Formats: sequence, structure tokens, C-alpha cells
Amino acid sequence: MVTIISGTNRNASNTLKIAKYYQKELLKKGLSTELLNLQDLPENLIASDLYGKRSKEFEKIQELVANTTKFLFVIPEYNGSFPGVLKTFIDACAFPESFYEKKAALVGLSSGKYGNIRGVEHFNGVCAYLHLHVMPLRIHISSIKTELDENDNLFKDDTLKFTNEQMDKFVKY
Ligand SMILES: Cc1cc2nc3c(=O)[nH]c(=O)nc-3n(C[C@H](O)[C@H](O)[C@H](O)COP(=O)(O)O)c2cc1C
Repeated sequence: MVTIISGTNRNASNTLKIAKYYQKELLKKGLSTELLNLQDLPENLIASDLYGKRSKEFEKIQELVANTTKFLFVIPEYNGSFPGVLKTFIDACAFPESFYEKKAALVGLSSGKYGNIRGVEHFNGVCAYLHLHVMPLRIHISSIKTELDENDNLFKDDTLKFTNEQMDKFVKY
């Protein structure tokens, strides 16, 4: 199973738009994926699912993670890094089996100039700790507000070139 993780729980996030875009485009390339939106995490995650606790609500999410062999993380830049809720989600997942010796691709985005280069690098460090093997081609989409058309599709030539290359490599990875 392949799962795309939309890396924030912010309402109406651009991250979710990009995650859905990747899901649609990967399907065109023949790869069917699940989508985990971090908005669907238990509202009380920090009380219900850390440090050995497990809620019924998170059990379904844990099962999805357990059955996934390849992840695509879409990660917005929050205060120069990746969102805290994404780290809390990772911390809530069963360790080490959830991500151990599995594969991942990373997509960063931001409203600013750098497309979350630093946050993706920080997250890459977490992946290394987890033995989660990250595909070398990582994508950074900056100035996200100028990148999506009225149907929430990416449309700029250079962005399409690099996201397509990443998707083609991800399908084969
Ligand atoms: C808590 C928070 C912190 C943010 N910090 C940054 C930042 O450090 N650099 C930046 O370029 N954009 C920053 N942004 C803007 C996001 O990159 C922008 O909202 C973008 O659309 C991706 O996030 P989204 O998926 O929540 O929409 C921040 C947004 C939030 C909600």
C-alpha cells in the first residue's frame, strides 16, 4: 500500500491541495494511493495516543501506517521547519515497526521563498533515525499562492517538470 500524508491539520491548507494533486496525478501514472489527512487525527492526540496509550480512533490510522510500504509526505513550512503536529503523529505511531526499512518521498511547500528546504531537511533527519529510506529527489514548492490554478492544479512549466520527474521516480521507487 502507498500512502500520501498531508502534513498539517490546518483547515483549508495548501498542503492538502498539493497532496490531492499528487494523488490524482499518481493515479494517472498507474499508482493508486491512500490519503492520510492529519486533520483526521484524534482531536485529543497528545492525551490519547502518546507514550503507550492507544485510542480506537488512532487504531485505524495505525493500521493504515502498518500496511503502508511507501509514503509520500507533503510538508508545509511552519516557523522555519515542519509542523509540530507531523512530529506528534510520528511519535504516536508504533515504534519502530511503523516506518522501519520502508520508503518515502518528500515534498516541501511554503508561502515564502524557500519551499521549506530547512523543514524538509529536518524531517529527513527524523526519517534517517526511523530507518525510513528517503528518495533523493525532494521537491520544494515556494510561493505556493502563485502555484495553484482555480482547480487547485499545479500549472507552471518548471514546477510540472520537477513534480512529474519526482512522481515518475516515486512510482518506480
Ligand atoms: C504556524 C505557521 C507557521 C508558518 N511559518 C512559515 C514560515 O516559516 N515560512 C514560510 O514561508 N511560510 C510559513 N507559513 C505559511 C505556510 O507556509 C503557508 O500557509 C502555506 O500555504 C503552507 O501551509 P498550509 O498547508 O497550512 O497552507 C506558516 C504558516 C503557519 C500556519
